[in-house]
Amino acid sequence: PVLVVDFGAQYAQLIARRVREAGVYSEIVPHTATAADIAAKNPVALILSGGPSSVYEAGAPQLDPAVFELGVPTLGICYGFQVMAKALGGEVANTGLREYGATAAMIAGDGGVLLGGQPAAQNVWMSHGDQVSQAPAGFEVLAKTPATPVAAFGDAQRCFYGVQWHPEVRHTDHGQEVIENFLHKAAGLDASWNSDSVIAEQVERIRAQVGDARVISALSGGVDSAVSTALVHKAIGDQLTAVFVDHGLLRAGEREQVEQDYVASTGVRLITVDAADTFLGHLEGVTDPEAKRKIIGREFIRAFEKVQRELVAEAAASGDAPIKFLVQGTLYPDVVESGGGAGTANIKSHHNVGGLPDDLDFALIEPLRTLFKDEVRAIGRELGIPEAIVGRQPFPGPGLGIRIIGEVTRDRLEILRAADAIARAELTAAGLDGEIWQCPVVLLADVHSVGVQGDHRTYGHPIVLRPVSSEDAMTADWTRLPYDVLSKISNRITNEVRDVNRVVLDVTSKPPGTIEWE
Ligand code: XMP
Repeated sequence: PVLVVDFGAQYAQLIARRVREAGVYSEIVPHTATAADIAAKNPVALILSGGPSSVYEAGAPQLDPAVFELGVPTLGICYGFQVMAKALGGEVANTGLREYGATAAMIAGDGGVLLGGQPAAQNVWMSHGDQVSQAPAGFEVLAKTPATPVAAFGDAQRCFYGVQWHPEVRHTDHGQEVIENFLHKAAGLDASWNSDSVIAEQVERIRAQVGDARVISALSGGVDSAVSTALVHKAIGDQLTAVFVDHGLLRAGEREQVEQDYVASTGVRLITVDAADTFLGHLEGVTDPEAKRKIIGREFIRAFEKVQRELVAEAAASGDAPIKFLVQGTLYPDVVESGGGAGTANIKSHHNVGGLPDDLDFALIEPLRTLFKDEVRAIGRELGIPEAIVGRQPFPGPGLGIRIIGEVTRDRLEILRAADAIARAELTAAGLDGEIWQCPVVLLADVHSVGVQGDHRTYGHPIVLRPVSSEDAMTADWTRLPYDVLSKISNRITNEVRDVNRVVLDVTSKPPGTIEWE
């Protein structure tokens, strides 16, 4: 793989994604990895990421200097560029000059393999205080900015390159080109990594792992479980049984999508557990959000374990191979954030409802463990999973249960489901799905407001629209939806959904507001 060395900013994952977009497989390693650790992974190239520190600060993240003796093509970015300059004998200075945001970079000389052929002046995105004041011996300066004498450098002999700016962000004009030039032209790597190759490789691995044992999988209706299940099914067919727990907190049409469209397109053998009564029974009288989450999480596990016991007993009675494996839709960011990557501050929260306990007596199959979300979607499309599932926006495991503020009842679920279906339909019709990350629709069930409909006083509930734009759900901003679309959603909801006489818009960013209301 190409190894992205993480110096502790948010950029390592983005860089790893851009490398994969260039058709080369990448993984993230922490900057604390030694040269031996790195060599053991057989890297075909290294990329040193940006980071929050100054190379001269006490405790600033360092890199084992022996890494530069491995003979591996290396690209340093921002902080990684400075680490490289310092380690190889150049000079990094704190001049008090800072560059943040859009900056004009001027190519020096022919720009080398990294920048050759690109416009002489280009917009790049910067974020640094220190600067490289002198390139190490053997390096050629490839770009400058008004404030930075060495904004990019290269040593073609050793295949070492660096840029002060962030080529991985979209605000940088020729960023992806810089990354591709490094990978394809400088390091000579082919663009051969794509969804097809991932599917073929995973299918083989899963077959080898499973043998003739049987496997179960929990489907949630979301993208990750849908794709991991379909991938395992492609590998082992009916050795797999998928279990879908309908907790009664799904949105309109979701169960049908799984039971009909998903099954028809993948051929997965599916058992649906109708657990709505049980869930709603346990939720009776409960209004505290954390209490709701805990109940829903607990009941999900109970429902799943019940089916699992039945399947195990069935296999034993019929002399079938035993069930030994459980499919899990873990993604690469979860792996990196739970310690597989660097010393990045752990901002990730509590959201593991829908997750299963780890004391289940099964080994895990995690076919998406090395993948990012957009890659998972591409594979899902390749596997023929319907767009309505593969393109689905995030939806929380506890479902509509945490979008009814107040007690969850069947009646309230019906109201919320109807309002949510209208909002979703109108956003899709207006072509806005790509612009919003997700749009929770929330029923303020314990709030009443006065209205007037057809000359009558009404006393109904408000519905909240919470459209947000985000990259990763860690931070978000409220989406500036067009007024005519908001107006249409509002009109339709107040006209078509009983007991709702008011629609309000949530205009809070995250932080301070979370995306969900509970
Ligand atoms: P918050 O509300 O914390 O949500 O800003 C961030 C993202 O996580 C989703 N979310 C959940 N997803 N189980 C999940 O699978 C959960 O319990 C859960 N709670 C929130 C939320 O929809 C948003 O995308």
